[in-house]
Amino acid sequence: VLHLKYRTPSAWAQAALADVRALLVDHAFCEDKAAASARMLMKQHEKLRGPMAALAKEEDGHAQMCRKFLKERGAAAGIKYRNPYVSALRRQGLGLGSGELLDKLLVASLIEARSCERFQLLADATRGGTLGRFYEDLLAAEARHHVLFVDLASDLFGSRPAHKRLGELSALEAEIVRSLPWAPRIH
Ligand SMILES: [Fe+2]
Ligand SMILES: [Fe+2]
Repeated sequence: VLHLKYRTPSAWAQAALADVRALLVDHAFCEDKAAASARMLMKQHEKLRGPMAALAKEEDGHAQMCRKFLKERGAAAGIKYRNPYVSALRRQGLGLGSGELLDKLLVASLIEARSCERFQLLADATRGGTLGRFYEDLLAAEARHHVLFVDLASDLFGSRPAHKRLGELSALEAEIVRSLPWAPRIH
């Protein structure tokens, strides 16, 4: 369903949760980026305006939740941060700021899918607590976002071409995520 070609081992969650504050700082950054990407995509096509405006708002809400959890832990989100996953995608020419619109939508769909997969593992590892519930809510949202991006790509570029390209990009994404060391980060 999520079109992912690499499955993260469940042991990953322990490495990510080893430093919850660092994980939340990274997470807040990812949500900020998701909101910024949606705002950027809004301007790329008339059909994207409505759905991307709604998405940006939702991602802002996720970022606020991360900041709330950080505050409770006496920490704050960082200002600027380099995300190795996004940098690696960009090195493959898959930056959300460049390239073809089809690729941008599909890369966004894969980032949402990967986040969903990771939130599932985090939810399993933190079940019962407030963080567990947070991850539970997020994984449902990100699964929905994954589908939204695939649907928009199919709508604008045709289902067949969109799914063919999604298969190619998904293979690249799998290679990237497999090669990254585990750390207190979402990716
Ligand atoms: Fe989100
Ligand atoms: Fe999302």
